[in-house]
Parts: sequence; C-alpha cells; structure tokens
Amino acid sequence: MAKSKSAYVCNDCGADHPRWQGQCNACGAWNTLTEVRLGSSKPSRGGDRYTGYAGAGGSQVQTLAEIDLTEVPRFSSGYGELDRVLGGGIVPGAAILIGGNPGAGKSTLLLQVMCQLSQQMNALYVTGEESLQQVAMRAKRLALPTDKLKMLSETSVEQICLVAEKEKPSIMVIDSIQVMHMADIQSAPGSVAQVRESAAYLTRFAKQNNVAILMVGHVTKDGTLAGPKVLEHCIDCSILLDSMGDSRFRTMRSHKNRFGAVNELGVFAMTGEGLKEVANPSAIFLSRGEQQSPGSVVMVVWEGTRPLLVELQALVDHSQLANPRRVAVGLEQNRLAMLLAVLHRHGGMLMSDQDVFANVVGGVKVGETGADLALLLAMVSSFRDLTLSRELVVFGEVGLSGEIRPVANGQERLSEAAKHGFRRAIVPKGNAPRSPIEGMEVVAVTKLSEALDAL
Ligand code: TYD
Ligand code: MG
Repeated sequence: MAKSKSAYVCNDCGADHPRWQGQCNACGAWNTLTEVRLGSSKPSRGGDRYTGYAGAGGSQVQTLAEIDLTEVPRFSSGYGELDRVLGGGIVPGAAILIGGNPGAGKSTLLLQVMCQLSQQMNALYVTGEESLQQVAMRAKRLALPTDKLKMLSETSVEQICLVAEKEKPSIMVIDSIQVMHMADIQSAPGSVAQVRESAAYLTRFAKQNNVAILMVGHVTKDGTLAGPKVLEHCIDCSILLDSMGDSRFRTMRSHKNRFGAVNELGVFAMTGEGLKEVANPSAIFLSRGEQQSPGSVVMVVWEGTRPLLVELQALVDHSQLANPRRVAVGLEQNRLAMLLAVLHRHGGMLMSDQDVFANVVGGVKVGETGADLALLLAMVSSFRDLTLSRELVVFGEVGLSGEIRPVANGQERLSEAAKHGFRRAIVPKGNAPRSPIEGMEVVAVTKLSEALDAL
C-alpha cells in the first residue's frame, strides 16, 4: 500500500508545516494548524491530471512585448453590477469565488447569470447542495430561459472535470466548493484539506481548458470564507455578496481581482423575482424621512469608480460615565477620536463630557478620509442641536491642524449630488468647481472655522 503523506496547514495563511505545532511560523497565529492528508504519493487514476500547469515539456519563453494582448476577450455576465465588480466582465479561464452567508443569494444570482449566458454559449451548472428539481423549480418560478443550460448534480471533483472535458463548457458554476471532495484526500468534505485541494484542482482545470469557473463559497459566522485563506491564493478573483443588515439589498465587492480593480461596489436587491440590479444605489441609502433632525448630514463617498451619496448621523449626548463613550458604526473609530481632538483644538468645542455615537445609515462601510468633514459637521450639528438643511451635502478630509484638504474626484461627487437635487455643498477649496454647477451653491473652505461658519 502506498504511504500517505500529510502536512499541517495554517487555516489563516495557508502555510505548510511538516509537523504539528502550536503557532504558525509564517503568520504567527496560534492554534490554526490542521492536518491535511495528501493521499498516496503514487499517482492514481485521474487524480493527477491537473496537478501541473499547462504545456509542461513544451514551455516556451516570451518577452512581455511579444505576448498577444488581443487575446483577453472578456464577456459580459449580463449583469452590469457584476461585470463592474469583476473589472469589466468575465475573463475566460478565470477562477472566481463568490462568497456570502447562507441566504445571501449566491445560488439565485448564479442561476440567473447562467440561464442567460447559456443562450449564447455552452454553460454547465454543477450543484452539490440542491437537487436538480429544486434548481429547476427555482428557474421556472423566476421565469428564466431553461432550454439551454446544462445541469449536473455531482460532488466529486474528478467526475465533474471528466464531464466538463466532454461537454466543453465555456463557463461553469460549482455550487458550492465546500461540498466538493476528491478521492485522494482522506478527510471529510468541507474540511480544510478538501476545500483547498478541490479549489486548486478546479482552478488548474479552468486554466488548462479555458473555462471560466464560478465557485460558491460559504462564509463563517465571523465573516471569513470557510476553509483556509489559501483558497484566496489560488483563485483569480474573490467576491463577497453581503446582505446589509436585514434589508433586501445586497452589496457585492471584490477582495482580490487579478483582472481589475478591487473595492468596486455592486448593489442588488432581492425581490420576489430573484436578484435585481440597483442602478442608482445613492437613492436607497438616502431614503430619509420627511423631517430632518440635528446630527444628520449627507456626504458623497467614492466607491471604486463612482460616487455614492450616504447619510451620516451623529448623536452627541451628555455622558454619565467617567470615560464617555465614542462609538463609530461603519466608520473608523480612530478617526472619530482624531476629529474630536481637532474640533476641540481648532474649533473650540469640548466634548470630553459627552458620549459620541456616529453611524452610517444603511449599513454602508466608509473607509475613506473624504467622510471626515461630514462626520465633524454632523457632531457639531448634534452638539449644538442645529438642524442642517435637507439640501446640504458635504465631503472633504480634515487635517490635524484644522485644515480642510481636497479629496479625489471632487467634480464627479458634486455632479452626483446635483443630480439628486442637492442645492448646497460644503467642500474643500481644492475641490471647488472651475465653472459653476447649475442650481448648486458651493461653499469652498480651507479651514475648520470657515466650515463651521458656513453651517
Ligand atoms: P439563495 O440563492 O438560495 O442563497 P445562497 O445560495 O446564497 O445560500 O437565496 C435564498 C434566499 O433568497 C432565500 O432566503 C429566499 C430568497 N429569495 C427571494 O427572496 N426571492 C427569490 O426570488 C429567490 C429565488 C430567493
Ligand atoms: Mg445556495
């Protein structure tokens, strides 16, 4: 009998170790090593077909200039929001991982995409989680074109690849990678070893046969993809479909993309007829009540390649605690503390006896510095019980000496705000428009005091 090899793999960073130890040598995390049985060292039937990269033996060297660039044709998934997150469409031969919590709509989205794509190309949908009847029923209910999409119910990776070799699809879905298994690996489906090897095998298959593979991956409670991080090393693109709180909206972001920029945001809505694209996401984050209240201000943040209008709320209230609370939801806690210091030092406003809460409405996460000025003005508005105009929009970075710094894409941000009916804007001097924007009064400021006066 062939001797089976095993390795110890870190769940966090994917580093291999020859024996078990408490701490990972590579990333320093404790208690993250899991034993991975690598199966027999002797190659078995089918198991070694995709263990090496294409062209072994016939490899040739080319200079960068010789490489034919016309050969990167992307095709559209049929959904503009998904294409944008993928960097402009699906690249043939790409291995794409779509993560998300259960019920996020991964299967629904992929079924919609595949049914539509099957009209123009050879498409194969492999389901290991749901029965073929379940998928068919859903497709029927969503009134999708069902005549051309090829379906396969299978969980063995080797089998799937054999079928795919015969069927020669241009695009393939694996739902989900956690239920897939390989005969050579002696651990249960869903274990680190199985997920890692299955994904690597499928990725190599995708590359050698020029099939785009979309794999579904589940997300654990703490928000990481179940299975080792190493999954993210071998695939080309990893996107996360996230539900915002309990709402029916879903945001989609890429965390890694070999074919485009990351941090593009795509927005979908889950409806009775499946997932629908939200073409104008600013509208949903701005759904405000009739009454404008103190502490609320609208800002323009930059998401990937487009502006997004979001409402920011702050509540400043007298504290009963020795150490007043500073809570930021959807924003960076450290920036909140920094802005409070700037406000004290350069604005003469002391909030050391106040609790300060800040929240971005709609569950959006804002990481950019362009939100500084809006957060600062929201806190002042709440502190002074001053209701700001409904038609005011704010953006800009605040420096430690109280200066207001310009941010990227000021012009586009202002145009987006004007399009949504905002009539007044407080922005950094460097972002003031060269020609006036129709129907909008732009107040350009350089210092904190000017911004406070403009309120
Ligand atoms: P699903 O695609 O099965 O999620 P995932 O594969 O990510 O686990 O989506 C299931 C959820 O979506 C389920 O809670 C019901 C809801 N849903 C709708 O609201 N409308 C629909 O048309 C469909 C198909 C699902
Ligand atoms: Mg599913």
